[in-house]
Parts: sequence; structure tokens; C-alpha cells
Amino acid sequence: MQNLERPTVLMDRFGRIIRDLRISVTPRCNFHCAYCDPLTDAHPEPRGILSVQDVDNFVRASALLGLDAARFTGGEPLLRKELPQMMHNARNTPGIKDIAITTNGTMFRRRHKELLEAGLNRINISIDALNPSIFRQATGGGDVKQVLDAIDLALELNLHPVKLNAVSMQGINHTELLDLARLSLEQPLHVRFIEYMHLNNSDLESYNSAFLSGATVKAQIEAEYGTLEVVPTDPSSPARVYKIPNSQGSLGFINPISEPFCGACSRMRLTADRKVRPCLLTDRELDANAAFDSANPIEALIDVLLEAAHKKDRMGDLLPKIRERTMVAIGG
Ligand code: 5AD
Ligand code: SF4
Repeated sequence: MQNLERPTVLMDRFGRIIRDLRISVTPRCNFHCAYCDPLTDAHPEPRGILSVQDVDNFVRASALLGLDAARFTGGEPLLRKELPQMMHNARNTPGIKDIAITTNGTMFRRRHKELLEAGLNRINISIDALNPSIFRQATGGGDVKQVLDAIDLALELNLHPVKLNAVSMQGINHTELLDLARLSLEQPLHVRFIEYMHLNNSDLESYNSAFLSGATVKAQIEAEYGTLEVVPTDPSSPARVYKIPNSQGSLGFINPISEPFCGACSRMRLTADRKVRPCLLTDRELDANAAFDSANPIEALIDVLLEAAHKKDRMGDLLPKIRERTMVAIGG
């Protein structure tokens, strides 16, 4: 790799600039959500799982190409004991401006101090239902109290904006969506309703019958709370954001299927088994093992990133199809 020729932005063939890194630090999770990983309950740690050093090298290589935001996901990222160290290193990487985590919240109280010390300032918590038994069913045994406690703690710690993710599914949590929207009324909570993507290899018929469009969910919410007000946001962000008049928080709709935002996609992913994945909804991955193990991993990873950007598809496979991996192993 010739340093002089290294570009300082990572641009793909369609002119999209890649800025956001999503790093899945483990494929394991203590929940088994229907949309992510409903089938299996054993995810042995793959051989060649990302080490702290690997993550550091990858973040450094990315930052040299102009990427400036890193989000840690899983599986459940808080299952990795080294997560604070990974975040601390990312925070101290020149060029990285924003680090965040997406978590199910269950271990947040237990680990929040070390995460804050490592520089955590933003958190997305997944919560698909408030009703304890629906929540238990939707997550394969989870306790909603733990998640509500994590949300309270994130507010107490001023980790604003505290964003909550809910995947809307007919037959799973459709009766919970109004209550989830209500969370934004009295507290500065930003609830984002996400369209269900076929990333769990469920049979196509059950996918189609569970799919709920963002427009349907928004109409239900407006029937209850009146017309939502538009909240102006960065047009490149995938969420269309609104609020219930006079509420403290907001309601976002992320509609990857009915209103794909691939044209503004700025993401690149790293899986826990050292694959670089240009697109969530395309199976293509680049094996970065040799680069991670090479004598000069940062330079080698820059080459992998350039190739991955070049191979990023214009759009993901939005239609349901059987995929090589499910969401839990890709990273949310
Ligand atoms: N469809 C939509 N969103 C998903 N997520 C995980 N799997 C899916 C899916 N199949 C999102 C959820 C979860 C985050 C980790 O990723 O919002 O909170
Ligand atoms: Fe980006 Fe792929 Fe998602 Fe489209 S489907 S927004 S290209 S990750």
C-alpha cells in the first residue's frame, strides 16, 4: 500500500461516502429475539474472534480512511468483557468522533461504570414490548424489568439522546406499539420503530405475515395520539422523526423495506469472526483474517476496506430470502 496514494475518504462506486463503522464484537446473545435469532440457542464463540488488538487495528485503519463513527453491536456486545477496552481505544483514535453501543440493556447496570469510564456517551437499547409476558415471548425468555431499569439508568446518566429500538411485528408485538410510543411522552426517550427485515431465515410465509410497514405503525399511533409533528433531521439519516405534540421525546420510523435508504448508506460492518461486510442485506463478505494476522495489519486492513467499499452493492436484497447468516451473527 502506497501511503501517498491513500485516499482520505472512503467512497464506493456509487459515490457514497462510508463514514460509519459497525463492529459486532460477539455473535452470542442472552436473548433470542424472533427477528434476529429465534432458532438456535448455542452460538459457540467462533475461532478467530475479534481481539482487542484486532478492533483497535480496524478502527485505526477506518479512521485513516475518514470513517468517524464506531458503533459496537453483537449479538449482545456487553457479553464481551473486553468491550470497555475496545471502546476506550476507539475513543482515543484520532478521527473518531462518535462511539456508541446497541444493547439489550440487561447487563447495563452491572457494567455502566466501566463503560462510562471508557468514554461511552450514547446508547441504543432494544425494547420490543412493555408487557412482561409479551416481552418474554418476543425475546425468548427476557425480563423487561431489567431493560426498563437500564433505560432509567441511561436517562439518569444523561446519555442523551437515549434511543430505543423496537422492531414492529404483526403477531409478536403489534399490541405493544402504542405503549412503546407512550414512552416518549413524559421522558426524553426517542423510540424508533424499525421495519422487520428478513434476516432470521424464517419461512417466507411467516415473514410476510409478520411484516408491518412503518406507515401502518405511524397510522396506528396517529389514530391514538393525533397527527405527529415532523422533527427536522439530517436527511441522510435513515430515521424519519416525528413527535407527539408536547412530548419530551420523539418517534422515529426506520423503513428499510418500504422506503429503502440504501442511496444514502454510509455503513461498513465488521463481524466478530473477522469478516468485512459492506451491506447488511447482501451476503457478500470479505475475509480479513490474513490482513488481521499480517505484519502490518493497519495497512492490510486499509486495502480490505478499499476493496469492500468497491464491492458494496447499490442496494441490499430487500426481498425475503434465505441468507448465509442470521442477524445475530452480522450485528444490528
Ligand atoms: N429486522 C429489523 N431490525 C433488526 N434488528 C435486529 N434484527 C433485525 C431485523 N431482522 C435491530 C433491532 C435490534 C438491533 C440490534 O438490530 O432493532 O434492536
Ligand atoms: Fe446500506 Fe445495505 Fe442497509 Fe441498504 S441494505 S442501507 S446498502 S446496509
